[in-house]
Amino acid sequence: MNDLTAPRILALAGSSRSGALSVRLRDAAAAALRSAGATVEVLDLRELDLPLYDGDLEVAGGVPDGARSFRDALLQCEGVLFVTPEYNGFPTPLSLNAWDWLSRLGAEGNKPSGLAATAGKPLALLSSSPGPMGGMRALGLVRQFLGGNFQMLVLPQQLALGRANEAFDDGGALKDERQRKTLEQMAGGLLRLAR
Ligand SMILES: Cc1cc2nc3c(=O)[nH]c(=O)nc-3n(C[C@H](O)[C@H](O)[C@H](O)COP(=O)(O)O)c2cc1C
Repeated sequence: MNDLTAPRILALAGSSRSGALSVRLRDAAAAALRSAGATVEVLDLRELDLPLYDGDLEVAGGVPDGARSFRDALLQCEGVLFVTPEYNGFPTPLSLNAWDWLSRLGAEGNKPSGLAATAGKPLALLSSSPGPMGGMRALGLVRQFLGGNFQMLVLPQQLALGRANEAFDDGGALKDERQRKTLEQMAGGLLRLAR
């Protein structure tokens, strides 16, 4: 039985480069979640070591183990927080690739398929960019991607953090009080859904 007084939230970002703004926002959101009573597990999507999805690779070697690690991390949480950056109006390849591999994983033994592992799982979505729109276009597409095919329960509230390169103080917190409030509200909303 899971301890639903402290739901476990898996925190992800669609960039792994050093100094990534999406990682800074993920970490600020993770702090808000911890303050709201969550246990937060951070997963670096790059560490899953998944090649760019390619049907020939799948035929030759099956689905890579990174997809299993991702499925298991999803099974071990009651909710997910995901921050996507935006490239040319779209989510980054790293934001999409692990999910695409996950969708190719069938049920194995007592483990559900990748798509069964996401169905009904609460999700809070955010985006970040140094531009004024904060990655808003990518955010809408990720909502469609994960709320649609992956059947995740996407929280209605979201945050597109514009001018993200100027948004954080030295301690990693958002400088703007309204944005901090939004993170707090999203953390509370995600925990309610997760419980
Ligand atoms: C190929 C490429 C395309 C980009 N396209 C957009 C874009 O459409 N909208 C936007 O707001 N920023 C765009 N940017 C700028 C990114 O938002 C910026 O590099 C950001 O820091 C990337 O996220 P990260 O800091 O989490 O790695 C683009 C950057 C790259 C490298």
